Amino acid sequence: MSLPERSLCAGQVRPDHLGQELILKGWVRRRRDLGSLVFVDLRDREGICQLVFSEDRTPAAFALAKELRPEYVIAVRGTVRPRGEKDVNPHMETGSVEVEVSELEVLAEAETPPFAVEDEALVSEEMRLAYRYLDLRRPFQNARIVARHRLAQRTRSHLSERGFIEIETPFLTKSTPEGARDFLVPSRLRQGSFYALPQSPQLFKQLCMVAGFDRYFQVVRCFRDEDLRADRQLEFTQIDIEMSFPTEEAIMALAEGLVAALFEEAGLAPPPSIPRLTYAEAMERYGCDKPDTRFGLELGTVSEIARETGFGVFKGALEACGCVRGLAVPGMAGISRKQIDELNGIVKPFGGKGVVSLMRRDGALAGAALKHIGEGPAAAMLEAVEAKEGDLGLFVADGYDTACACLSALRLHFAGALGLVEKGRHDLLWVHRFPMFEWSPEEARWMARHHPFTMPREEHWPLLESDPGKVEALAYDLVLDGNEIGGGSIRIHRGDVQRKVFKALGFSEEQAQEKFGFLLDAFRFGTPPHGGIAFGFDRLVMLLLGCDSIRDVIPFPKTTSGLCLMTGSPGTVEAKQLDELGIAIKEK
Ligand code: AMO
Repeated sequence: MSLPERSLCAGQVRPDHLGQELILKGWVRRRRDLGSLVFVDLRDREGICQLVFSEDRTPAAFALAKELRPEYVIAVRGTVRPRGEKDVNPHMETGSVEVEVSELEVLAEAETPPFAVEDEALVSEEMRLAYRYLDLRRPFQNARIVARHRLAQRTRSHLSERGFIEIETPFLTKSTPEGARDFLVPSRLRQGSFYALPQSPQLFKQLCMVAGFDRYFQVVRCFRDEDLRADRQLEFTQIDIEMSFPTEEAIMALAEGLVAALFEEAGLAPPPSIPRLTYAEAMERYGCDKPDTRFGLELGTVSEIARETGFGVFKGALEACGCVRGLAVPGMAGISRKQIDELNGIVKPFGGKGVVSLMRRDGALAGAALKHIGEGPAAAMLEAVEAKEGDLGLFVADGYDTACACLSALRLHFAGALGLVEKGRHDLLWVHRFPMFEWSPEEARWMARHHPFTMPREEHWPLLESDPGKVEALAYDLVLDGNEIGGGSIRIHRGDVQRKVFKALGFSEEQAQEKFGFLLDAFRFGTPPHGGIAFGFDRLVMLLLGCDSIRDVIPFPKTTSGLCLMTGSPGTVEAKQLDELGIAIKEK
């Protein structure tokens, strides 16, 4: 016996189908035996439908149904009928109907799964990732992947309708320095040579502009060998975009339109306006270049007041050209000693040495450092960060970047602890006018903050040689709820400017030619001014679907240690494969 093709998905059966005979196929969610009746919930991608087997009317199907176990794959022929009044389930789309089965076929048996294929099952992430195909079978997880597909489709149609062409760029390519480590692929045909997997298609999309495509996009996998966090994966997907002859405004407008469309696709109202902050303003106010602006807790600088105190902690930082910055936490003047100690733990990973806390409580000042700072300066410091009666003032004395990073971490900590983020609120924000370079103490040279192909502000070109630290880039990031969801820039399209930037980065003429000769060559043959942006698609989907981790919206993600728990990758390879590549593994 073999039942014919499926006529409908189980989750699509509706009262419209009453009286119709259907062929349904799917998984057994659960079976309930009620004497002469057996009820089975049949599940597929679209939902769940109740099947009824009756001993009196279809004894053969009934007998087989009694053998069914969860996750068996079955096919049934049956007729749609209304459920009895007391069996109607208003919470299910198929809840007012059921299918009375006349024929049942078991297509595949299933062992007891390691966890119940139910939304409610509490399962460790290790187990979910090891049996990802079962995890993905759970309706809530399945729905996330379907939603991701819809968002990708909307992206493609939105951009295609605006004249953008999806162009595939190579995965086996040459290493382009963009901050992270490359994944290398050894070449068999040219032993000793390596391809690099792209960290992004940056140079290829620029070359698409040289090639005259005018508007390019790609929903594309990128590879970066970096340390993983909840919002990072070794391989991730970008919505990569490039335009010829754009202004910064045009790119921002395009990005805003796309994000609004994706909010709509996710069933969310896009934020009504997208403010812009310069990098310098973002650091001043929030201590961070991707601030979460859904709550206040803005920072202040108290270096001048602190200088007057003679307090050793402040003095040390200020003498080393640092600063003293702080923020007020409303209503936290009653903070315990233990909680204060915990704050030191929060700033440590950011290079902070500690946090100075002052409180205004019961009409007086308090805090362990009060005796060193003195009442007058302490009151002035609290005033400067707008700490009122009942508030806590937290201060960090350090180099500017470290002080900002520590206070930004404290700001996020208290926003979480005090529940300052209004549920359902989303804030978008542009951060622009980034510094072109940042100093790398490890490499003892300037590094590109975004990438070396970003256009420096024209009036800053003379500074490329004299004072690279002061050069501002035509770069911008889009921030959603404190997450960098996209970044881009106007690009350099002139060989002379590109050479100057390479020089500022410490590349010799020969190195620049060896690494980027093809780009410099292309610039010789008529390159349009161009620019673009790339969104982190996984990150965006994660935020739009309200998930906590990027892994939730990636079908087959890796753990934070870069492992695939299902396939066991990365794995060893046969000696023969290494031989063919001319590679020998060094003994540890
Ligand atoms: P950038 O490096 O800023 O820019 O990357 C663009 C966006 O990609 C996302 N992203 C990541 N998502 C998940 N895991 C990662 N490891 C990861 N790294 C980055 C972020 C980020 O904003 N070529 C340039 C773009 C351009 O200039 O047009 C680029 O790749 O959301």
